[in-house]
Amino acid sequence: MPTRKPPPLATLRRSARACRACDLWRPATQTVFGEGPGDARIVVIGEQAGDKEDLEGRPFVGPAGHLLDVVLEDVGIDRSSAYVTNVVKHFKFELRGKRRLHKRANAAEVAACLQWLDRELARIRPRIVVCLGSLAAKVVLGSGFRLMQRRGEWIERGEGQWAIATVHPAYVLRARIGARGEEEFARFRADLMKLRHPPA
Ligand code: URA
Repeated sequence: MPTRKPPPLATLRRSARACRACDLWRPATQTVFGEGPGDARIVVIGEQAGDKEDLEGRPFVGPAGHLLDVVLEDVGIDRSSAYVTNVVKHFKFELRGKRRLHKRANAAEVAACLQWLDRELARIRPRIVVCLGSLAAKVVLGSGFRLMQRRGEWIERGEGQWAIATVHPAYVLRARIGARGEEEFARFRADLMKLRHPPA
């Protein structure tokens, strides 16, 4: 049975604002829904909204987003032409004094939020899906997907759609603090360079 086309992104975004499918909405400032054109050829999927994203209400506007922007530009992709989103649309955190420390969403929270990513993908039907990090890769490519073995590989999803997975830009930022920084940056860039020549 063909599934019904979901409503337009603006409608989904409005509905997601009122989502109570898990409790992450309570302490969060707002739902961070995806952004970008409804007919985007490329959808980029991250893990979950961070601190800055929670405050601004937009995905990938913090340091990881900045690195992503730099590499996308290098690759020749204008971020505004892509649809950028996350698996989990709320920031999860633990208060430590005045600081909000990022906490990873648990399996139930991920499962509760997936309805939105599913609808975003079903509505846009992009030709290319870019998964940033293991969570996005497992959600899109299956729970058995091994990111470190298959990063940078084109994987067919059917109906003319292809996916590619790489590490999360936050992982590259963390590596940059240590000795492996340049190497990890180069690998991340090389993975995303594949976007220049998607499968025909
Ligand atoms: N990390 C993510 O996975 N998504 C964001 O939007 C920001 C940081």
